[in-house]
Amino acid sequence: MAKRTHYIAKTPDHKGLIYYSEEEHAIWRDLYAQQIPSAERYSASPYLAGLDMLSMSDKCIPQCNEITERLMPLTGWSITPVPALIGFARFFKMLSEKTFPAASFIRSRADFDYIEEPDIFHEIFGHTPLLTNPGFAHFTSRIGEIGTRVKPADYSWLIRLYWFTIEFGLTMDAGKYKALGSGLTSSPTELIYSVESAVPERRAFNVIDILRTPYRIDIHQPVYYVIENIDDLFQVADRDLLADIRQAQSLGLFEPRYQCQLTG
Ligand SMILES: [Fe+2]
Repeated sequence: MAKRTHYIAKTPDHKGLIYYSEEEHAIWRDLYAQQIPSAERYSASPYLAGLDMLSMSDKCIPQCNEITERLMPLTGWSITPVPALIGFARFFKMLSEKTFPAASFIRSRADFDYIEEPDIFHEIFGHTPLLTNPGFAHFTSRIGEIGTRVKPADYSWLIRLYWFTIEFGLTMDAGKYKALGSGLTSSPTELIYSVESAVPERRAFNVIDILRTPYRIDIHQPVYYVIENIDDLFQVADRDLLADIRQAQSLGLFEPRYQCQLTG
């Protein structure tokens, strides 16, 4: 979230609408068409149920307003456009208020298959369907609430819990691994890799272990954490996460499963 971007944030007009060009809508259409068969095969059923509930367009980039109209009656969440990169303090505060910050630009065709920073496809296609799920939505706002209570020096500890669940979490569905995280769902290659590849390590869900696991944002993850059931996130949300962070800090970070640590 503290990186440079060559993309320019789009500003909503007085009605809260963002203008996209025909080519930008075409990129959405092509991304959606490419990703939907994999999502149907590799994403968890609560994600697919949420995608159905939001009935977003596969032809045009949805407006945050229209997703909010469908999401708000279900779990009280809204989606608000922001610049691609915002600070942790603002990010956590927005989550605590059940407001999901959505980067408003869409990637160029040069970045079609991989983009390191979040764009509107990642935000809307990847994140919003699971915000229809009560357990997932509650967990997300709880991360935000804890984020408003930790010291800035501790943001990097808390964000690992966000990373290994909301962005890159796996779950089980009828005895098979399935993707939960939006970073997986919106990635053409990592969605398949996370579920099918023999390369990554898939660890049982454990909050303290997650808080101690470093990560990099620019590679396919070498480690995933698997939550058995999405409803288990209710119990995770109700833990004393501040105490968990203190315990993880006293134990220290695990050795990275990669060579050069860039973040985490
Ligand atoms: Fe994200």
